[in-house]
Amino acid sequence: MNPPVSYTTENIITIERHILEEQKAHPEATGVLTALLYDLALAGKYIASRTSRAGLMDILGATDNINVQGEQVMKLDELADETIYRLNDHTGRIAVMASEEHADILPIPEKYETGKYVLLFDPLDGSSNIDFNAPIGTIFAIYRRVSSEGAGTLADCLQAGKEMVVGGYILYGSSTMLVYSSGNGTHGFTLDPSIGEFLLSHPNIRIPNKPKYYSVNQGYAIYWSEGVKKFTDYLQGKDGTIKPLSLRYIGSLVADFHRTLLSGGIFYYPADKKDPKRPTGKLRLLYEANPLSFIMDQAGGYASDGHQSILEIIPEQLHQRVPLFVGNRELVEKAEEFIRIYDDKE
Ligand code: AHG
Ligand code: MN
Ligand code: MN
Repeated sequence: MNPPVSYTTENIITIERHILEEQKAHPEATGVLTALLYDLALAGKYIASRTSRAGLMDILGATDNINVQGEQVMKLDELADETIYRLNDHTGRIAVMASEEHADILPIPEKYETGKYVLLFDPLDGSSNIDFNAPIGTIFAIYRRVSSEGAGTLADCLQAGKEMVVGGYILYGSSTMLVYSSGNGTHGFTLDPSIGEFLLSHPNIRIPNKPKYYSVNQGYAIYWSEGVKKFTDYLQGKDGTIKPLSLRYIGSLVADFHRTLLSGGIFYYPADKKDPKRPTGKLRLLYEANPLSFIMDQAGGYASDGHQSILEIIPEQLHQRVPLFVGNRELVEKAEEFIRIYDDKE
C-alpha cells in the first residue's frame, strides 16, 4: 500500500516546494509551470471550500442548462468551471484552455497576454453524485503549445497524452487531495484546511502489484461486447483462473480511479451499445482518460482503450469519447486479450 507520511515540521513539503523540486526535470520551465500548478491548487482549495458547504448554499442541484455532452449542468459544475477559467485567464501562462463544459476551445481574453501552456480540464467530475455527498473531483492536463505565438488553437488542444507535461486531479472526498505527475513519478498531497496548504502525503505512489478491486458499472452489462463480458467473468473468478476480485463502483471517475491507484486492481468504462450516439462509451479522452492514464503510467500501471495505449491516441475532436481500462498492467492487458479473442474476430 502507499501509507501517508507522518508529519514533523522539517519535512513539511508543500505542493509549491515539490513542484519547484520537480521543475529541475523541466529545465525549460521558468517557474511558469510551478505558478500554473499553484493556480490549479488554489482553484482546488476554493472548489473544496464550496463543495464542503454546498448543502448550506444555493449551489446544489441542477441549472437549466444542457452542456455539449447533452448532460444537465449542475450548479457546482458551473462554479468549478468558472473558478478554473478565471484563475487562469489573466496570468499570461496559458495560450488556450478547453473544458468539458464548453463546446469550443476557450481563448484567452484579448486584453491579457498568452503564454506557452495549454490547460484542458473536467471542472467537476462525478456531477451525478453531488447531491448525494459522494466524492467528486476535478481533472486537468497541461501541454506545451504547438502553435508558435498569439492565441492558442484547437491543434494545441488535440495532442496525444504522451506529450502531456502535467496530469493531475483534485479529489473532494473525506479529505481533499491533489495527485499529479510531471513525468517524474506520481505524487499525492492532502489539503490541511487549518493552514490552507496541500502537503505531501503520498510521495512516489506506485500501484500495488496485487490487484484488490475491479470497478465497472455492472448495470450496463447487457450492453457490453462478448470480450468485456468474458473479462468480467474472469475477474469474478468464474473461469477458475483467479480468486474473485471484490467490486467497488462509486460512479465518480476520480474516486474510482484514486482507489484503484492506491489499492491495485482495474477500473473500466467499456464501449457499450447503451447509446448509439456514444458507441465508444462515456468517458472523454482529452480531460478524463488522458490525464488519468498519464498518472497511472507514472505509477507503474497501464491504460488502454481495449486495443492500444490511451496515451498513443491522436485526438481528432475536443470531446471525443474513448473506452477506458486502467489499473494494473496485467489486468488491462488481460482485458485487451479477451477483446482480441472474442470481439476482434466479429
Ligand atoms: P462528469 O460528472 O464529469 O460528467 O463525469 C461523470 C462520469 C465519471 O465521473 C464516472 O466514471 C461516470 O460518469 C459514471 O457514469 P455511469 O453513471 O454511466 O456509470
Ligand atoms: Mn468527468
Ligand atoms: Mn464533469
